[in-house]
This record gives sequence, structure tokens and C-alpha cells, in this order.
Amino acid sequence: MEKLEKLYEGKAKKMYATDDPQVLWVEYMNQATAGNGAKKAQIAGKGSLNNRITSVIFDLLAARGVKSHFLKRVSDTEQLVRRMDMFPLEIIMRNTAAGSFAKRYGVAEGTALSKPILEFCLKSDDLGDPFINDDGIVALGLATEEQLAEISRQARAVNQALLDIFSAIEVQLVDFKIEEGTASDGTILLADEITPDTCRLWDLKDHSGRIEHLDKDLFRRDLGNIIPAYEEILSRLNGLAASE
Ligand code: C5P
Repeated sequence: MEKLEKLYEGKAKKMYATDDPQVLWVEYMNQATAGNGAKKAQIAGKGSLNNRITSVIFDLLAARGVKSHFLKRVSDTEQLVRRMDMFPLEIIMRNTAAGSFAKRYGVAEGTALSKPILEFCLKSDDLGDPFINDDGIVALGLATEEQLAEISRQARAVNQALLDIFSAIEVQLVDFKIEEGTASDGTILLADEITPDTCRLWDLKDHSGRIEHLDKDLFRRDLGNIIPAYEEILSRLNGLAASE
């Protein structure tokens, strides 16, 4: 497989064409951003950690029957994925109140939710990724009713599988964001990444009574260095993968 011209550069990843029109070459960068790019830093080692974390998570998900665009990891910072036509949606699942949800509804972070909550945001840097509901998605032609039903079904299946994975490594899966797309044959698949940049992960091994963040909130909220936390997540995930 050959890495060809750069097609796209986002906040955390670069995408390249390959000699196979159905396959993209993804490179994970060290850049960290928060607040829609308002806060930015280069953090050595982050790209490699996220590439390795999302690769092992996609493999653990596949073992639980959840398919994705992931094909294989080709280096510490690079992986091959299926080329997808992406829905312009940020698909958020929440198991515990935190972040924008806690703020919006005035509930304390850490409040348990009696059922998982699925939310959608329109993916638009210019608009600040505004909240959108199911009717809005269909009315604006962002997905059909049928596609939205499938996206929702998959988001809930990803949540169940991730809850299984993270509980096995003593991590509380508070919430996360995924993205979905359509492959050339019309199949709707989980795409993008699943990393501590896109999930809130709280350490259940910590019994201090404080929330021990193992995710990008360390960077967003100036709580500390993300690298040891991301290393801890990777090491626990590798332990789980080795035991399966
Ligand atoms: O900020 P908020 O509480 O809405 O975030 C919910 C979840 O979605 C968090 O796990 C966060 O990491 C993730 N997220 C993301 N990218 C965004 C917005 C949220 O990965 N642009």
C-alpha cells in the first residue's frame, strides 16, 4: 500500500490517499485543541498514543461484533481505514452527566443517568457544533430517516460494547463522541476515532473520592499532563486485548 497525496488536515489527524481508491492512510498528530480550536498545544507522544489506543479499541469492538472503518495500524502514528462519505454529525452518547450536558441542565458532574442519552450536534467549526435533533437532521437532508435509525442503533451498540471494554479495565465510560459514514457499497459504519480525546474516562481504581480524569479534560481544564493518563489507558487496553 502506497501513501499518496494529502486529502485533508483536521485538528488531530491528516488523511492521505493511497493506491487503493477505497483505502485512506491516516496520520495522528501531536496537536491538542479545545474549545473549538481556541486552545491549542503540541504534546509530544499524543499522536502515537491515540493511534495505538483507537486501533486496539477498534479491534476490541470488532471482537464484540461492532464493525468500523478500521483496517490496520501501519506504524506508531499511522493506520489504514476504509474511505467513507461522512455524515456531518457529532454523535454523542452519555452514561453519566458531565461536560456540556451537566452545564446545560444544571446537574452535578458525576450524576448517574438512568438510561444512556444519545445526542447529535451538527459538525461545523464555524457554528460551534450546535445541538440538532432527529427532525432537524432529516429536514436538512443530513441523513435519511432510515440512515438515522441505523446510526442511532449503532451508537447504542458501540456504547454497550465500550461499557463492556472499559468496565473490564476499571474505567468509567462517562460519555463519548463518535462519527459515522457510508462506505462505497452503502454500508453505514463507525468511523473517525475512539480515544481519550473523544471519551470521558474516569479511573475506577482511584478511591480518593476525587474524579481521576484519564482523558482530554486534563488538557481542557488545565488539570495536568495528558500523556501519563493516555499511557495508562493504552496499557490497560493492551492487557485486556492480550487476555482475549
Ligand atoms: O463537551 P461535551 O460534554 O458535549 O462532550 C461530550 C463528549 O463528546 C465528551 O466525551 C467529549 O470528549 C466528546 N466530544 C468530542 N468532540 C467534540 C465535542 C465533544 O470528542 N467536538
